[in-house]
Order: sequence, then C-alpha cells, then structure tokens
Amino acid sequence: MTIERQILSGVPTEDDLGFEVSLRPKTLDEYIGQEKVVEKMRLFIRAASERGEALDHVLLFGPPGLGKTTLAHIVAHEMGAPMGATSGPVLERPGDLAAILTNLEAGQVQFIDEIHRLGPTVEEILYPALEDFHLDIVLGQGPAARTMKIDLPRFTLIGATTRAGLITAPLRARFGIVHRLDFYQPEHLAQIIHRSARLLGVTVDAPGAFEIAKRSRGTPRVANRLLRRVRDFAQIHTDDRIDHDSAQRALEMLEVDEFGFDEVDRKILGTLIEHYQGGPAGIQALAAAVGEDRGTLEDLYEPYLIQEGFLQRTPRGRVATFRAYEHLGVQPPPGTAGRLF
Ligand code: ADE
Repeated sequence: MTIERQILSGVPTEDDLGFEVSLRPKTLDEYIGQEKVVEKMRLFIRAASERGEALDHVLLFGPPGLGKTTLAHIVAHEMGAPMGATSGPVLERPGDLAAILTNLEAGQVQFIDEIHRLGPTVEEILYPALEDFHLDIVLGQGPAARTMKIDLPRFTLIGATTRAGLITAPLRARFGIVHRLDFYQPEHLAQIIHRSARLLGVTVDAPGAFEIAKRSRGTPRVANRLLRRVRDFAQIHTDDRIDHDSAQRALEMLEVDEFGFDEVDRKILGTLIEHYQGGPAGIQALAAAVGEDRGTLEDLYEPYLIQEGFLQRTPRGRVATFRAYEHLGVQPPPGTAGRLF
C-alpha cells in the first residue's frame, strides 16, 4: 500500500488504534448503522442470555474498517462475558490456539480477526472445539502417537474476515450466526462523526460532518481519521470550528476527492479505460498495471468501486462502467453506450 493511500484505507494504522479504543461504542444502542445486523444480534443475545447459555459462534465478514472488532467487543459487553482477542496470522501452530482455548472462561467471547489466515493444521483443531467444545491433542508421532481429549468450557467464537470467499466450507459450517457488514450510508457516517467529535471535544456542524462523511468511502475508520485531520486544519485556520467550508478546504488539501477516491482508484479506472478500452481486464494484469498487489486491489479498492457503481466484476474480468467514464471526463467509445453498465 502506498503511503499516501493510508488516509483512505480501511486498514488500521498505529495512529488509529488508540483513538479507536476511546471512540468505540460499547453497547448495541450506541452502535450506529448496520441496522439489520444490530437487530438480529440484539435478539440472539437476548435469547441466549435468557437461556443462560453462551451465544452461538458468529462469523462477521466485510471490508476492513466497518466495525467487526467493535461489534465483537459489544457482544462480550452485552453478554456480560469476558473477551479475548487474537488474529489468524498470530496463531502459527496448533499449540498457539490450544493455549488460548484451554484458558477460556465459561461463556467467554473469543475474537479471531483475519480468521481466513489460519493454517490448515490450526484450523483443524478448531473444528471439534467449535462443535463439541473439546480439543483432540495428538501427543507424540508415529506408531506411539496418542490422542488426548480435553474438554473446554462453552464459549462463543467471533471470527472476522474481509473476504467470505476465503473461508473454507468446513469452518464456515461451524458458525451458527453469519453476518455481512456493508459500507455505511453517508447519513450514518455523519452521525458517527458527530459522536466522535463530541468525544474529542471538537465542534462540527451538520454540513461539515456530511462533507467528511461523503468522502469516507462508507467506512467509519476512514471517517474518524479524516475527522482528526480536518480538526488539525480547523485548529490552525478556523478557531477549532469545522463547518462545510473548512471541511472542504481541509479535504482538498488532503487530496481526498468528492467520492473519497485517491490516486490509485483513479489509476485503476484510468488504466481500464485507456489501456483496455474499458475492459474486461484480468485482475492480475490490472494490479500489475497500477503497481499494487492483487490482494490489495481485491480487498481495499474494488469493493468500494463496485458498490459505488464505477467498476463491475464479470466472468471475463473487470469492466469500467459508464459512471467511471463520466468521473474521469472521458467520452465512452462510439457504439458502446448500450454495452456499458
Ligand atoms: N465508531 C466506529 N464505528 C461506529 C459505529 N458503527 N457506531 C458508532 N460509533 C462508531
């Protein structure tokens, strides 16, 4: 990822993490947006609590920065349960996961971020843990090897992934609750910005919040990051007040355009239009042409471009839409009007 890109990325930077913990909503009532997910989680949490049981395992998927970790913390808080957090890449060996699972308290919520990045041998010990709350630990090797069964307390695993397609079928089958988090509407992002501004002690009016919201790529993490940068601008130029004019000037200075696009977004669309006559182009070729790796393109750039109707994913490759031509101010080739999305 390019350095410039960081301001619009859903992936957390070191700088974000401290702020996020202080801004994070603690209850479902405080959580803004994702109404369908919130409504269902409220019901499942209430039902499990009334029965005195641990909540079923939950799989959350969606682009980075939409609140998967936040939601996991909220679930633990609402269940009145202790919470543990780790991530797929950290759990290198089966023993790493076994150590966590054998230390769980009854009813604990255990969060595993980037769960699609668990290795196959680690993932395998998770299956019986999720299904029957036990571990099968193999001791020794060869003919002398023995399996030891360890019982675990009932717990709730919350797995998070940016790409549902990368979760293996047997792992996915062990989650009773599966939710997809979608990009947020600007109205919801504006509410999040107002809430964060209040917690940070900054004044922002409605048009100012909406201007930041519109350019935040549907992502609360980006909205909170832009708010902090606009606050810096307001502190120096406008007596700490963020209004439409100061938000717009700050965002222009940051080179965040009206859709929240940066250089790479424009390069993706520009390459498709100029080098591939609008497409289709294979993802690999497109990634090479814009100088990013395929995973970054698929995880960070494409989802928002597709959601906003600038890009289409077809069986033959990526295609620029009419909106992409319009945004870049390029005339679509003659005769393609009916062919373009
Ligand atoms: N901060 C980040 N995401 C949020 C959300 N969904 N609701 C409230 N505050 C947030």
